[in-house]
Amino acid sequence: MEEIKRIGVLTSGGDAPGMNAAIRAVTRAGIRNGLEVFGIRRGYQGMIDGDIIKLENHSVSGIIQNGGTILQTARCMDFMKSEGRQKAYNQIKKFGLDAVIVIGGDGSFTGATIMSREHDVPFIGIPGTIDNDLYGTDYTIGYDTALNTVVCAVDKIRDTASSHNRIFFIEVMGKEAGFVALRSGIACGAEGILIPEVKGQLERLKKLLAGRAKKYKSSIVLVAEGDDEGRAIDIAAITQKEFPKFDIRTTILGHIQRGGSPSAFDRVTASRFGVAAVDALLDDQKSIMIGLANNEIVHVPLNKTVKLHKDVNKELLELADILI
Ligand code: F6P
Repeated sequence: MEEIKRIGVLTSGGDAPGMNAAIRAVTRAGIRNGLEVFGIRRGYQGMIDGDIIKLENHSVSGIIQNGGTILQTARCMDFMKSEGRQKAYNQIKKFGLDAVIVIGGDGSFTGATIMSREHDVPFIGIPGTIDNDLYGTDYTIGYDTALNTVVCAVDKIRDTASSHNRIFFIEVMGKEAGFVALRSGIACGAEGILIPEVKGQLERLKKLLAGRAKKYKSSIVLVAEGDDEGRAIDIAAITQKEFPKFDIRTTILGHIQRGGSPSAFDRVTASRFGVAAVDALLDDQKSIMIGLANNEIVHVPLNKTVKLHKDVNKELLELADILI
């Protein structure tokens, strides 16, 4: 591989708290190793448009505590077409970039994998999504902060549920995965956790709610937005129809889960990932994702992260089963 002298960094897909810490670490580690670092704004759209800016140490001062991404992000349909990727490649050559670090989720890594096959551009992926649904890493940037946001919100809802003897169905993000719902449900002591990875939970939930109705008056049920039984509003309607006497409400937490100041864990993890990504490029690595396995930095082939499915943690599933 040609000597790496100039690298680009971008954030792509849904933003996640901690992305700024990763951008900061890539920039500082790159400069420390004598590289020039360029920020590609608005994800792959900015790569196509040539919306690329030089980053210096001062460019990333005072951002580690901020949610969102100073480079902004976008979901870019043009990049999914070969003409779009060709335009992006032309810009990479125009700016003389030798490699690109992509901070994003599975959609972003799919684009990077395809582009690296069509054009010889080394890509390194940093897992940045609140969904934590990427194969090969225990944690993705933003997941821990999102969990804490959900826990804080659900604790507040539990106050009013108890005051009014209500059952709340609370929908959390996660795309087609239940990682956010499962871990935050355990942390909140939810009476029900509905995730797409476990089938037939609704019947069990109904029995549990019917049983609780005799003793306890309020319940919290977390619903992963991708659950196969439907969205929280649908599940609440089904439950209300079967139990007309229940006082039921629904809350969709939505994009509050994507914001906020990143947790210490996300800031440190993102910083580790950023430095490891630069080290990997200097070690002639390409088409890999930087991950965390048992708290150790690992390299995972990029195509595996998009092809292979990540299972929910069996021990957490058993824990939820025992405690609910
Ligand atoms: O991938 C992160 C995520 O927040 C998912 O959990 C959610 O389903 C999706 O993004 C929402 O996408 P958008 O921000 O484009 O509405």
